[in-house]
Amino acid sequence: MRVAAIGDLHVQENDEAPYRELFAEISTQADVLLLCGDLTNFGKETEAHVLADDIKSCTIPVLGVLGNHDYECGCPEKVCEILSGGGMIVLDEQAHEIDGVGFAGVKGFLGGFGRGELAPFGEPIVKAFVDEAMKEARKLENQLRTLRTERSVAVLHYSPVVDTIEGEPEAIYQYLGTQRLAEPIDRFEHVKAVVHGHAHHGTYEGRTPRGTPVYNCAQFVLKPLFGRPYALLEI
Ligand SMILES: [Fe+2]
Ligand SMILES: [Fe+2]
Repeated sequence: MRVAAIGDLHVQENDEAPYRELFAEISTQADVLLLCGDLTNFGKETEAHVLADDIKSCTIPVLGVLGNHDYECGCPEKVCEILSGGGMIVLDEQAHEIDGVGFAGVKGFLGGFGRGELAPFGEPIVKAFVDEAMKEARKLENQLRTLRTERSVAVLHYSPVVDTIEGEPEAIYQYLGTQRLAEPIDRFEHVKAVVHGHAHHGTYEGRTPRGTPVYNCAQFVLKPLFGRPYALLEI
């Protein structure tokens, strides 16, 4: 299966069909399109409608997750509903299967890597912060567990590894993802690739501790690399 992936669309309300042509092109290049979050710039309903209209021009299945920007206005459920209306399958609680390939996805969360990982210690708000990351990892694990396919792809917004955020200032690594997301991925043999966004200045390729390939599909990473803002993967 040929899978296209793009993250960080950051659609704004005054954009006019910003992705229509690109989605039509991708439909001729791939069997499935994955959207890796930050689909809108501020999580406004008007922005979601602009993107939903463009998604309708896609002739292949479109699946994906929301990003932190899609939460900014406080109505992510509404953004989901509008994008679903355009035909996108928004992954969060339930995995999806297409032609024998599984797709599981969550937005993910922050928290850091290695020695920089925030621990659930001390003030309740710190524990709540870490709990949020654990909750996202648990949702991903539950989806991956339901899949009976030999191959699957995990879709995230935040990064599960440090490799693909390299290029960003080290001071902000902990805001770009958390290694807690890599744990469920490494528990399942069937995960053949992980795609994410969020780190606009990161690195395209990396691996989880157990060796599963991870791809940063933020369009700003892909464009200078491939001359097109999306990644193409063979799964
Ligand atoms: Fe972004
Ligand atoms: Fe983001």
